[in-house]
Amino acid sequence: SPPSAAPAPLAGKHALVTAGPTHEPIDPVRYIANRSSGRQGFAIAGALARLGAKVTLVTGPVSLDTPRGVTRIDVQTAREMEAAVNEALPADVAILVAAVADWRAESSPRKIKKGETGGPPELQLVENPDILAGLGGSDRRPGLLIGFAAETDKVVGHARAKLDRKGCDWIVANDVSGDVMGGTENSIHLITAAGVESWDQMPKSEVARKLAERIAETLA
Ligand code: CTP
Ligand code: CA
Repeated sequence: SPPSAAPAPLAGKHALVTAGPTHEPIDPVRYIANRSSGRQGFAIAGALARLGAKVTLVTGPVSLDTPRGVTRIDVQTAREMEAAVNEALPADVAILVAAVADWRAESSPRKIKKGETGGPPELQLVENPDILAGLGGSDRRPGLLIGFAAETDKVVGHARAKLDRKGCDWIVANDVSGDVMGGTENSIHLITAAGVESWDQMPKSEVARKLAERIAETLA
């Protein structure tokens, strides 16, 4: 019989991943959202599970199959995502890939009717909680805390500022000026205290595999 395989590098570790957009209701039939497909976050959750981690994936509304071996929690809004993340703690590593809506509307319990508002309704927007910054300042902060940053310009500069502001260890900076949101490929810069690594454009599955390996090395 073959020799027994080496133990999985992330066996015994709990990884928490957020993915997808959030939907913020305006009324029972309308919502605010964004172009996130969830693909990159789902790929990361799957790659971590393949390395043996126990994975909790908190996702907004997406049309994707749950990766094998991953525990999936579906949410709609940023506030639901925040509650599910806090519920899933503690974690050894958290990777917050979700494109959380920055603002929510004061939602109407009734459908807003065109004729009633005297022209287009004015949406009163309220800022959503920042889940990543909340974890960064929490006494339950995962030992390795990783954020994503979708940027169209000054990608590394903006991302580095987010790393400092949100108290995370790494930022994966995503250049979304091209066809990235919803696409299958990604071109990223990995920003850590040690500096910046720029990876060639590659499939999101490959970004996920490389990130999961890097996480395993770091937690070893
Ligand atoms: N994030 C979060 N909760 C929010 C907003 C963002 O957890 N309410 C997380 C994202 O999941 C990502 C990181 O913070 O890991 C950066 O998100 P991004 O939208 O790029 O940053 P913002 O601080 O919202 O800045 P802006 O959208 O203005 O660029
Ligand atoms: Ca944002």
